[in-house]
Amino acid sequence: VYGPFGDLKTAEIIVTESVPGDVYFVAPGALPNKNFGPVPITFWERHPFKGAIWNILQLAVDHHFNPILHPLKANREADDDSIYDSILRQSFTEVNDLDSMRRNFDKLPEELQDFVSHMQRRDYPTLIQPPGVCGAGAKDEKKAPLLLLAIKTIESNFKDRQAIRHTWGQVGWVSGLRQRGSRDGGGYIRRVFLLGRENSEEVVVNFSDMLQMESAHYGDILQWDFRDTFFNLTLKDVLFWRWFSKFCSQTLFVFMGDDDVFVNTLRIITYLEDQLQKPQAHRIIKNFMVGNVSGTGIPSQVSKSKYFIPDSFYKGLYPMYASGRGVVYSGLLTKRLHSVSKRVHLFPIDDVYVGMCMMRLNAYPIHHPAFLTFDFSKKETEEQCSYRKNLLVYKCNSNQLVELWAEVNVT
Ligand SMILES: *[C@@H]1O[C@H](CO)[C@@H](O)[C@H](O)[C@H]1NC(C)=O
Ligand SMILES: *[C@@H]1O[C@H](CO)[C@@H](O)[C@H](O)[C@H]1NC(C)=O
Ligand SMILES: *[C@@H]1O[C@H](CO)[C@@H](O)[C@H](O)[C@H]1NC(C)=O
Repeated sequence: VYGPFGDLKTAEIIVTESVPGDVYFVAPGALPNKNFGPVPITFWERHPFKGAIWNILQLAVDHHFNPILHPLKANREADDDSIYDSILRQSFTEVNDLDSMRRNFDKLPEELQDFVSHMQRRDYPTLIQPPGVCGAGAKDEKKAPLLLLAIKTIESNFKDRQAIRHTWGQVGWVSGLRQRGSRDGGGYIRRVFLLGRENSEEVVVNFSDMLQMESAHYGDILQWDFRDTFFNLTLKDVLFWRWFSKFCSQTLFVFMGDDDVFVNTLRIITYLEDQLQKPQAHRIIKNFMVGNVSGTGIPSQVSKSKYFIPDSFYKGLYPMYASGRGVVYSGLLTKRLHSVSKRVHLFPIDDVYVGMCMMRLNAYPIHHPAFLTFDFSKKETEEQCSYRKNLLVYKCNSNQLVELWAEVNVT
């Protein structure tokens, strides 16, 4: 920490802490994106966000980890989940008496109110998890997996899961494009599907038994006991990171995406191998994330949109983030995201949340133009789906997946 207290406003300070996973305290003013919501220009300002619920709660959490306000505590915090849980919870009681918060809560759409009422909870029990270690993989793997495909899906999307299992999501050895047939290049692929519980008011079928059978057969189901809704998708990232850190620590890369995309696995493998061969590979891998990256965005103010985030909930711009429809990041980064996520309140939009965590790691996603995550018209999608230079295409239906896979696989 440099200089007297008064200089902190302009000083660029990032104080490292000795916790595992290399987590930083990010001081106000130290980030390139000055309007990024959770960081007020001066951290001692008392009401910097006019009652915006998420920002106020996050500010309370940030205070706990501020090494200037709590010089001793910052180093004492171990990697113990219960400490973080209680700090997240405590932030609610600390700000509970702010009238503006309550008024803002009353103004929120019902879905967001529901989100806020549950946002301090993330310890949902696991209902089904892959037997053995780290998802479905080949039995006789001779080295650590290169890529784990983690796919967000819902109970009723059985058909999409099958299409993925038979196309781009096949597990086992994949030799990439350059060195086909050679064992020198390529790597093992594993697969896991991420699910909550089907939103029960909307379905008549009980999927529980079917999913158990699917899990017994394929060993690639990871399901937690929370309602599978749009605003709960962030839980899949956070809980996946926790699971990954425990069971997959040797895996080099993760693909995280939706079940309605086409992933050109062969090309991605080749691309990842290129990263590993770069001279500074170790430093690149530490922060490595690639996808369709948007610069700092404005939260949607369209009240009918499913992305609608009113400023009574969140004030500020979004950080830089990669579209959650499909993104690839390193296993090392996954573990670091797991650590840092314990001190970032859940945010209802999953990819924005990942961006928020990335910023706190001082890591930035890389944009790659071959990640096509945009909503194309139907005709355009058909064209894009058959364009084999792409790494990822949204959105391809299960028939297109099969055709496209056949096509990229013969070259
Ligand atoms: C679905 O079936 C399982 C086991 O067969 C049962 O435990 C569960 O309560 C059922 N869920 C619903 C919503 O009926
Ligand atoms: C998220 O899941 C929890 C647990 O099932 C549920 O109570 C809550 O309503 C869900 N939140 C949203 C916003 O759907
Ligand atoms: C990337 O995402 C942005 C924002 O969602 C979108 O406007 C853009 O078209 C996407 N680019 C590609 C190549 O998919």
